[in-house]
Amino acid sequence: MNSSFWWWRGARGCIGQALAMFEMKLVLATILSRYQLALADQLPKEPLRQRVTVVPANGVKMVIPN
Ligand code: HEM
Repeated sequence: MNSSFWWWRGARGCIGQALAMFEMKLVLATILSRYQLALADQLPKEPLRQRVTVVPANGVKMVIPN
């Protein structure tokens, strides 16, 4: 599932795509600068090939350890 899928689900597409992507980067940067994340489990991650890159097929769940 490529990233453009989410923005073009309806008949028209999303005019806020660039802003939403920018906001997501800010949220991610804020979380990473404030917390030390750890893997939620040690299960092997299935690779999913995209056009060029390979990503975890089912994402990678993270937790904020106490
Ligand atoms: C994760 C965030 C977002 C997703 C997944 C998303 C997804 C979508 C999708 C699929 C549509 C098309 C709906 C349709 O054709 O029926 C849409 C339309 C729209 N989105 Fe987003 N959107 C997001 C964030 C935003 C943001 C941040 C804004 C503005 C600040 C925004 C403004 C709009 C507008 C104005 C439309 C209507 C465009 C039109 O019909 O001409 N969206 N969005």
